[in-house]
Amino acid sequence: MPDISNCKAIQLEVFDDKADGLLSVGEQSKQIPFQIKRVYTITRLQHSEAIRGQHAHKKLEQVVFCLRGSAELWLDDGAKSTTILLDRPDTGIYLAPGIWHEVRNFQNDPILLVLASAAYDESDYVRNREEFLRLAHARNHSI
Ligand code: TYD
Repeated sequence: MPDISNCKAIQLEVFDDKADGLLSVGEQSKQIPFQIKRVYTITRLQHSEAIRGQHAHKKLEQVVFCLRGSAELWLDDGAKSTTILLDRPDTGIYLAPGIWHEVRNFQNDPILLVLASAAYDESDYVRNREEFLRLAHARNHSI
């Protein structure tokens, strides 16, 4: 059952070389809990009012990082919702399947990095908010 409590922080291994930089490392099946099949970035967010996401996935698992700047990740499982600040290159959020997610309030020219468990597949998206709520309600009321 999709539940926002499954959307945990993913802490990368950090090597802090102070003025010489911060190295953050994640490996599949150590920090990243799925086989990485796709990577995408979101950049050039020119105004803080932009909203990305606004959908859920049926099967796709993802981890989202904000490598520079900050953004708010709003998660909703149809019964509970939460907002998580993304503002660290070494800490991502695992996005479980079935969770409606929106990324908002972009600040300081953010760079988002997303790791995904499958190739792009439009049929895996639930983009209609009413459909998402119907599915979540049906799940929550099934025996
Ligand atoms: P979408 O997933 O809605 O973006 P976001 O969640 O960041 O708001 O995708 C926007 C468009 O880009 C849509 O037409 C599909 C296309 N797209 C791909 O072709 N491949 C991909 O891997 C992604 C993430 C999007």
